[in-house]
Amino acid sequence: CNSVDDQDPSAHDDSMLAANQRIWGFETNFGGLADLTLVKANQLMPKPTHLTWEEAAVNALCNSTSYRMLVGAHGARMKQGDVVLVWGASGGIGGYAVQYVLNGGGTPVGVVSSAEKARLLHDLGVEAVIDRKAEDYRFWSDATTQDESEWRRFGKQIRSLVGEDPDIVFEHPGRQTMGASIFAAKRGGTVVTCAATSGYMVEFDNRHFWMKLKRLLASHFANYAEAYAANRLVAQGRIQPLLSAVHPLTDVGVAARAVHRNEHEGKIGVLCLAPEEGLGVDDPAKRERIGEDTITLFRRHGG
Ligand SMILES: NC(=O)c1ccc[n+]([C@@H]2O[C@H](COP(=O)([O-])OP(=O)(O)OC[C@H]3O[C@@H](n4cnc5c(N)ncnc54)[C@H](OP(=O)(O)O)[C@@H]3O)[C@@H](O)[C@H]2O)c1
Repeated sequence: CNSVDDQDPSAHDDSMLAANQRIWGFETNFGGLADLTLVKANQLMPKPTHLTWEEAAVNALCNSTSYRMLVGAHGARMKQGDVVLVWGASGGIGGYAVQYVLNGGGTPVGVVSSAEKARLLHDLGVEAVIDRKAEDYRFWSDATTQDESEWRRFGKQIRSLVGEDPDIVFEHPGRQTMGASIFAAKRGGTVVTCAATSGYMVEFDNRHFWMKLKRLLASHFANYAEAYAANRLVAQGRIQPLLSAVHPLTDVGVAARAVHRNEHEGKIGVLCLAPEEGLGVDDPAKRERIGEDTITLFRRHGG
């Protein structure tokens, strides 16, 4: 997805730092949905041979983003044993994040907003799950005031589930949750953020931040090396695609509405050139070896 001019010297250290970097389909090209499109060779990665077109297509953006945030050298550098709080843990980036935590020998604490999403996380192997709707967390008592007692209740619930505070908070809802995220992070812990779905103007209590020596880290997509490493893990069957539903290009509005209303899990696939779902598996034997169970969990939940 990443477009960078290789004449920019900063691009040779970390291409995400290049002044002219743009994300294809987000900052260029008016979106990513089309029958045909033109891209640069270094915006492409090998398709994992055991996956269908739509299973392979849904990973690039969110998987790479989560990899940089948690695993790559520019992110939070998660270690074995780390407790990682993941907001939206059955969503696009969260669903990859919890897999990275499990793969890396950490303990994910996933936050979701329904019993159905909680079940999906349990099936993925995440034991500690918080249903924020069922718990009725109200971090804001009105539009301008946050309620510290709710942050404390949230922190207590995390401790009761995993016995300690999070080393890393995987943050992206933004305004609604940043105060709680900064509060809940362990002394010396890291809050890594790549988005602000619920509002860009975030607020937190600086006392909880500086006196406990926490870090706030910005992250955005991934450079080509990070995206390639993340894609390799999908190709190895160590990270599973989050495809939960599939629509033809003509029904893209239905797919967009589900995401807008937060009714979806993982990622929704849209068929552009493929005439039907399930095509494009180049290596069926590898697919069998890896096992449908660890490829199609989200699709089976999506029904
Ligand atoms: N910087 C980058 O490179 C980059 C890359 C990819 C995505 N993003 C951004 O990251 C964000 C998440 O992307 P995504 O693909 O994961 O979206 P998604 O599939 O819609 O998932 C987001 C999840 O966030 C949770 N959420 C939404 N509002 C919330 C709130 N007020 N409080 C707590 N949780 C809330 C929801 O989970 P529950 O309702 O289950 O709790 C939702 O499933 C978006 O803003 C996206 O634009 C940035």
